[in-house]
Amino acid sequence: MNNKNLIAPLVDLKAEYKLIEDEVNTAIKKVLESSSFVLGEEVTLLEEEIANYCQVKYAIGVSSGTDALFLPLLALDLKPGDEVITTPFTFIATAEAIALCGAKPVFVDINPFTFNIDISKIENIITPKTKALIPVHLYGQPADMTPIMELAKKYNLFVMEDAAQAIGAEYKGKKVGSMGHVGALSFFPAKNLGCYGDGGMILTNDDELNQKLRMLRVHGSAIRYVHKYIGTNARLDTIQAAILRVKLRYLDEWTEKRRNKANIYSNLLNHPEIKTPYVESHNYHVYNQYTIRVKNRDSLKSKLLEEGIPTAIHYPIPLHLQEAFSYLKYKEESFPESEAAAKEVLSLPMYPELKEDCVDTIVNLILKHIK
Ligand SMILES: Cc1ncc(COP(=O)(O)O)c(C=O)c1O
Repeated sequence: MNNKNLIAPLVDLKAEYKLIEDEVNTAIKKVLESSSFVLGEEVTLLEEEIANYCQVKYAIGVSSGTDALFLPLLALDLKPGDEVITTPFTFIATAEAIALCGAKPVFVDINPFTFNIDISKIENIITPKTKALIPVHLYGQPADMTPIMELAKKYNLFVMEDAAQAIGAEYKGKKVGSMGHVGALSFFPAKNLGCYGDGGMILTNDDELNQKLRMLRVHGSAIRYVHKYIGTNARLDTIQAAILRVKLRYLDEWTEKRRNKANIYSNLLNHPEIKTPYVESHNYHVYNQYTIRVKNRDSLKSKLLEEGIPTAIHYPIPLHLQEAFSYLKYKEESFPESEAAAKEVLSLPMYPELKEDCVDTIVNLILKHIK
């Protein structure tokens, strides 16, 4: 494929930048002139705006979504042997954060329709060592939070929502990241609210945790050179915060555009061999990814690429089969639904500026090649 034939990119960050170029450039210049590059005023303002947007008391800016997952687990003081339950069908950062804190990731298979953790399989694997649960709102669709919070209450577990792909999504009218003890957001450029580098945010309603997390992101310190905890450097840059403040004003409009494109895809992709995203009626899906399921995924993927349509696989290898987690001794078929999904999922081009006629063309080419 060469660029001349490109029908639509997978995401189009340039088109988005062009729409807000003047505002972003002005915001960046303001930071450059202030010379307050780390945890400056824009970070504090963004934290207030995100807390307000996500319906939580506190938002703590950090340097990535990975750090947004890592610091709350660090704050828990997990001991070796402590267990944290999550899904194997996610980006590695979710389980990496558990391992980095010295705890053991324990996986639970997914619901094959929503791709989120299968609630019915969690209770069986809770042990006295289980300390936390990390549901992931995969692709932008909330996990089933009511039963998760019920289990957490029953077994006294800490719940961290991995909302890296789902800012703005709602479960029964509640924003993701506001229902667990903490929520983690990523501002990686391709996320629905993405910065121009790396960034993330932790959400919580807990006063003590808020204080501790603010210290952990600056080497466990509230006063310069006085260190209460072993922390790390996980601060959010002021320039990124300034860019995110501009973009946050557009987020709801952009999300609606994503949802509109997703509806068009789902209405047109009417074929027995294609499973379009299944959305629970109580969920407001924000479509960071528009992901279909097809049996002949790999051949469809290469044919689409030849036609000028790049696609992506989120994710080709479930975490329990990754070499990095081989020490956990899971085997093939440990989690059949995750393994089947890894072979069949295909994410199509999705971004707010995606043109409707491009969606039509993409759909027609998929229908041509699926036969
Ligand atoms: C589900 C999930 N969790 C965590 C992360 C990590 O976020 P970041 O790339 O900002 O560190 C990502 C980002 O790709 C993600 O998709």
